[in-house]
Amino acid sequence: MSYSTFNTKHEGEIAIVTISRPEALNALNNTFFKEFNAYLDTIENDENTNILIITGEGKAFIAGADIAEMQNMTKEEGYQFSKTGQNTFSRLENLNKPVIAAVNGYALGGGCELALACDFRISNNYGKFGLPEVSLGLIPGYGGTQRLSRLSGLGNTLYLQLTGQMIDAEEALRMGIVQKVVDASELMTEALKIAGKITQHGPNAIKTLKKVVRGGYQVDLNKAYDLESDEFSKLFESDGPEGMKAFLEKRKPNWK
Ligand code: CAA
Repeated sequence: MSYSTFNTKHEGEIAIVTISRPEALNALNNTFFKEFNAYLDTIENDENTNILIITGEGKAFIAGADIAEMQNMTKEEGYQFSKTGQNTFSRLENLNKPVIAAVNGYALGGGCELALACDFRISNNYGKFGLPEVSLGLIPGYGGTQRLSRLSGLGNTLYLQLTGQMIDAEEALRMGIVQKVVDASELMTEALKIAGKITQHGPNAIKTLKKVVRGGYQVDLNKAYDLESDEFSKLFESDGPEGMKAFLEKRKPNWK
């Protein structure tokens, strides 16, 4: 299936999604959200895809929500616009496979919020991060007010969102927003290398790990420990036996 706001391709079990609206620096509009939800419907049931990489076409990752589309919205439409973004990014965050943001340039406003909903972020040295909504008389509306503070702390969140200023990839790295910065020419090679490392591991263990880390973060600590033990134990009936046997037999696991 093809989409008008992004392109998709596969490298084995890795899916690469390239957001592509270069005329608006890949800004996210209503069509994007419709298409991306349809794509998530497909990908979550696709047993041949075990990991996603999201990047942007050209000099931007995503320059935010589409300002031209938002300009004449009513309060009710604004609410719906925010909810659509929040719900879509929550789906992405809780997708049953890991998602890596490969940030290739501007990741601003809703674009930064999409990157924050990925499991982790790598960036090239042109990466620029910011939540400039206050400069438009708005605030982040796709979960960014909450997600950034959980990732990087209240001080960094209020600093970035009150000033609305952009930071470069190195500063984002220092704030824990980005996990790795590479040269521009290395971005996709590095993203594929990291994705390849993840897909070498037990597929059920990988899915379970994401579910437990994300699920445990939203509940109290004792409930989170229970979730960990429950899910840890289930792996003794899926990937665990082969993984441990392979280690002891000094060979690579043969995951089913
Ligand atoms: N929405 C719609 N169009 C956008 C856009 C956006 N978020 N960002 C850029 N564009 C368009 C520009 O209007 C311009 O279109 P024209 O060629 O038709 O004039 C084109 O993309 C190229 O942009 P610039 O000429 O501005 O490029 P630049 O290199 O000079 O500047 C930039 C790049 C600093 C990223 C600048 O485009 C910019 O500041 N963009 C807006 C960033 C922003 O404020 N994002 C937050 C949006 S609000 C939001 O996201 C709300 C939410 O949380 C729900």
